Amino acid sequence: MKTLDLAPLPSESSGETPWRDRIEALVDRWMTSDALYRWSVSNPVTRWVTRVRARKVFDLMAGFVYSQVLLSCVRLRILETVAERPRTLEELAQATQLPAAGLQRLLQSASALQLLELRSRGRYGLGPLGAPVAGHAGIRAMIEHHAVLYQDMQDPVAMLQAQGQAGEMAQYWPYALDDADKAKAAADALQVEKYARYSNLMSASQPFVVDEILASYRFDGHQQVLDVGGGQGTFLSRLARHAPQLSLTLFDLPEVATLARANFARQGLLGRSNAVAGSFLQDPLPEGADLVTLIRVAHDHPDADVRTVLAAIYEALPVGGTLLLAEPMAQEAGETPLGDAYFHFYLLAMGAGRLRTASELMSMMSQAGFTHIEPVPNAMPLQTQILVGRKSRAIPASAPGTSH
Ligand SMILES: C[S@@+](CC[C@H](N)C(=O)[O-])C[C@H]1O[C@@H](n2cnc3c(N)ncnc32)[C@H](O)[C@@H]1O
Repeated sequence: MKTLDLAPLPSESSGETPWRDRIEALVDRWMTSDALYRWSVSNPVTRWVTRVRARKVFDLMAGFVYSQVLLSCVRLRILETVAERPRTLEELAQATQLPAAGLQRLLQSASALQLLELRSRGRYGLGPLGAPVAGHAGIRAMIEHHAVLYQDMQDPVAMLQAQGQAGEMAQYWPYALDDADKAKAAADALQVEKYARYSNLMSASQPFVVDEILASYRFDGHQQVLDVGGGQGTFLSRLARHAPQLSLTLFDLPEVATLARANFARQGLLGRSNAVAGSFLQDPLPEGADLVTLIRVAHDHPDADVRTVLAAIYEALPVGGTLLLAEPMAQEAGETPLGDAYFHFYLLAMGAGRLRTASELMSMMSQAGFTHIEPVPNAMPLQTQILVGRKSRAIPASAPGTSH
């Protein structure tokens, strides 16, 4: 079993002092007392704070049910059906082949969650939160594959004990298995299908990430791009249209590189692109690119493997070359968390990767030798955040025997 990395622990010097500890302990006792709750609810000034907190705790408890309502709507194609035109309960019962009384519970719940909304003559139409789901096959594919995560999370404590490795989600991503499990899985006749299954999911969900990158980073100064862990080439295919001067190389595991080659052929990009098969944990990366992209890859892997891939990228780039790393990131201390609560568990269920803060990733890039490392601001940091760094010298400053 792969061992899990510990995220850096909060530093000792974060300002805690014995007097502050004592005050916080007092506040904790006060906040958990029944007397305070009763007083706060009876007081018109404080009542709203208590209501908001009670609502948030309720939502934490009910969140699993909300997810199942969403999953049911996707599985039953209810959102797409009402997107065509609003439908009555009876029409939806006929379309889904479900008894009306049971289906009505789902429609009521989905309306309460703003996935649906009631329209005239008792018909159900698309709600404000149902609209993006109905409009994007990629969102629906992401929601559908969460059934695997929900299965693992039925017993979250057992999942923590097993360090995520024993569950269904770990099987979904064969490259994230440890070596012993990979060897067992390799004997599985369905293995190739598993690579195709996650690659299709990645392609379906990648457009949101690609939009963020293309809107935030200028590619016009580059000639050749290498997309490491590039899946079946969805990003490179979009980039080919966005920056026509670029030639494109993709590097991924053999099963996935084959899919990428077929995709490039379908898109008429074979003259401008190629897909190289290999593992960035063992093989050197193809040389010649002045820009390497690493998109939604680092967070799948433990720290040691991330150091290996960053070193391989440094090696493959010419002096002056750039690394662009994009993936969801943990928020820094003091920032409002975005997807943190979700990604910490998802990545645990998947294997030995973890969600890192931008500063952790920047420090890993710096240790690999990159300089001029900086974040590239983007509009939707929930989907992805972006970092760039440059190779300024042939041998990393941090390499043994080099002076700083
Ligand atoms: C989460 S997917 C991201 C794919 C794509 N970059 C995207 O954002 O949609 C991670 C990719 O890394 C590839 N990968 C994982 N381990 C690898 C390895 N050791 N060598 C090469 N590619 C690897 C996987 O096959 C997969 O295509």
